[in-house]
Amino acid sequence: MEGKLIIEGGKPLKGAVEVRGSKNAATKMMVASLLTNEECVINNVPLSGDIDITKELCERIGSRISIDAKMHTCVIQTKTASNPIVTELSRRNRIPILALGPLLHRKGFAEIPVLGGCPIGHRPINFHLAAFKKMGAFIERRRHSYFAKAEKLSGADIRLPFPSVGATENILLAGALAKGKTHIRNAAVEPEIENLVEMLKGMGGNITFNSAKREILIGGVKKLHGVKASVMPDRNEVVSFAVAALATKGSVLIKDIKRDYLEAFLNVVESVGGVFRVEKNGIRFLYKNPYKAMDIITQPHPGFMTDWQQPFCVLLTQAKGFSYIHETVYEDRFGYTNDLVRMGADIDVLPDCEDTACRFHGKHFSHYVRIKGPSTLKGGKITMQDIRAGMAQVIAALAAKGESVVSGVEHIERGYENIDERLRELGAQIQRVKE
Ligand code: EPU
Repeated sequence: MEGKLIIEGGKPLKGAVEVRGSKNAATKMMVASLLTNEECVINNVPLSGDIDITKELCERIGSRISIDAKMHTCVIQTKTASNPIVTELSRRNRIPILALGPLLHRKGFAEIPVLGGCPIGHRPINFHLAAFKKMGAFIERRRHSYFAKAEKLSGADIRLPFPSVGATENILLAGALAKGKTHIRNAAVEPEIENLVEMLKGMGGNITFNSAKREILIGGVKKLHGVKASVMPDRNEVVSFAVAALATKGSVLIKDIKRDYLEAFLNVVESVGGVFRVEKNGIRFLYKNPYKAMDIITQPHPGFMTDWQQPFCVLLTQAKGFSYIHETVYEDRFGYTNDLVRMGADIDVLPDCEDTACRFHGKHFSHYVRIKGPSTLKGGKITMQDIRAGMAQVIAALAAKGESVVSGVEHIERGYENIDERLRELGAQIQRVKE
């Protein structure tokens, strides 16, 4: 639902918060359930907008779904995949393409819409299409959709040009029931993908996941069955709450999370001079000393994630000296810095990076920024355009002096459940009002 946030900044966040399950794992797990006609129970599902879009996708295909909002449990069963043409969901997010494998296995053909998602670069799907062609599918680009056909998908040896999260997941879902072996080389190995692999293995899938080598081996099986699976904690939420605590000079305990999968983030927190403490029931993030400038490079896992640079950029506006962020995953993910500059930050998007090995080097993409700090941020009128940038803008407003009006809340609500309420519980002065 459209709305805006009114934020009175300058209050240190204090207290404890629980993170929800990862939306980037849960949505893929809902799609994985389409590979069986038996019931799947997925626990720890967040109540965010992308879950609603994925629910709508699966329901259009033929799933019966019930989500228990209190328990965060999703029960999903697709006895018959009666409708493989799901073109109505055009440009709403990037999940429909992942239904290609399940639909081809169950119906032999499928039509999915042109994808949407956050405006952070071109976001082509050439790796997905090349993989499906290698697995024996015929694919045709139509005006607003992709039509695919395959009597039977076959296993294939696929080397991804870049470790793409979505392409790796798509090949996994297609390979699980394909004839023969599928080998993914240079695979993405994000923990959310491992979460999906665990679910597929629980359904009877035959998958070997080698994170260190970036290799996934899938032995296609004839049939998959129902499963009880659980979604891992949302690492992006962890980072958002942690940075909100640090940027407002507060102290917040993030409950029930472990260091695993957060090492790259924790190292950066230490380098900037933030403090984190592993406690019995979670990890606490707190302010102690003024922040120090530093350089960050975003990378696929196990590196510092591209989804973390936006909130961290806000923290770097508070660090003394020149900091640099080099974005190597998406070519155009710094649009939000214009709003930070209007709030008082000193940020320059540089014409090019200095790394000749960077795949964006020499192409004049806006993928490298310099931040001079510390700056005093002032509240202002901001419009969100995507999930992570939106969250960075909210954090900036929380750290700023005075009132901010942040519109376009529906963007962050695709990725964060009840964000205003949960920040209020940490002492933030934040109200959600209708546009
Ligand atoms: N790429 C291609 N061709 C392809 C696929 C990807 O060139 O066929 C490029 C992309 O353009 C990009 C890079 O490869 O430059 C990485 O893209 P990837 O496929 O890994 O991204 P994705 O699967 O579309 C997911 C998350 C993103 C997250 C990225 C990277 C979901 C729904 N989205 O996107 O999350 O930033 O992986 O980790 O899982 C978010 O949650 O806000 C978000 C944008």
